[in-house]
Amino acid sequence: MATASVYQVQTSPLSEAQECLLQVVDGDEEPVAAAVAESGLKFRIRDLRKVSDAGVSILNGINADIPKGMIVGIIGPSGSGKSTVLRSLNRLWEPPKGTVFLDGRDILDIDVLSLRRKVGMLFQLPALFEGTVADNIRFGPQLKGQKLTDSEVYKLLTLADLDSSFYNKNGNELSVGQAQRVALARTLANDPEVLLLDEPTSALDPISTQNIEDCIVKLKKKGMTVMMVSHSIKQIQRIADVVCLLVNGEIVEILSPDKLSEAKHPMALRFLELSS
Ligand SMILES: Nc1ncnc2c1ncn2[C@@H]1O[C@H](COP(=O)(O)OP(=O)(O)O)[C@@H](O)[C@H]1O
Ligand SMILES: [Mg+2]
Repeated sequence: MATASVYQVQTSPLSEAQECLLQVVDGDEEPVAAAVAESGLKFRIRDLRKVSDAGVSILNGINADIPKGMIVGIIGPSGSGKSTVLRSLNRLWEPPKGTVFLDGRDILDIDVLSLRRKVGMLFQLPALFEGTVADNIRFGPQLKGQKLTDSEVYKLLTLADLDSSFYNKNGNELSVGQAQRVALARTLANDPEVLLLDEPTSALDPISTQNIEDCIVKLKKKGMTVMMVSHSIKQIQRIADVVCLLVNGEIVEILSPDKLSEAKHPMALRFLELSS
């Protein structure tokens, strides 16, 4: 069954986002770019499907409207398709035409590099390039022919909760937690509107985890839209505005983080029981 899920958008303050979930609907409506762009949606996902080369269904018709400026948590069992959904949103995996819209535009019609600047991504393990922290942070803008000034680099360090002493450090001098914050600063250097976070703290200690969570919440307050996969239900409850439960390539429930126990889908319930 293709489950379609819609969030109510825009007119309500973000703090009330949790109360704004609307009911499940059929996902066959035609996207109307202008209306979508005006409505305050960031992403619109319609009947997103993926079948592996071996013929196995990986995504079974994902439908979701992701409002601007919200932290959307995605949880679900391993192999349920969480990373595949995130990767479809910046074309690390190319979704079929007519299935993913950013600000009302089909992402296949957007130049892939500019899409990835707008839609930044962090993974479980940060992979820094050779060179200093500052070199890493300057990398993205440099591709566009822009050279960030020192003060711009320091500002990005601060945004990622790193002090100025990191500027000249080499990637290999950093802990994983510090490297993850550098990776965040490097992503933020592209001035993204959306952050896709795929278990960004699962390799980190609790303090580094808290640093990253604090950064994410600060970024949301500045208007960033965040989609975050996490295996930690507690983490999702700490920072997400809304939670999508993904099971077998389908969004089976959309819940407020403090109402996860109200999930109805049997697989979702089982997953929640075992994870808490
Ligand atoms: N490129 C691929 N080719 C074949 N199968 C894949 C590919 N990528 C992912 N899968 C399969 O798709 C399913 C969903 O994967 P993934 O999105 O990584 O799940 P999750 O992030 O929820 O653990 C898994 O069964 C995985 O083995
Ligand atoms: Mg994954």
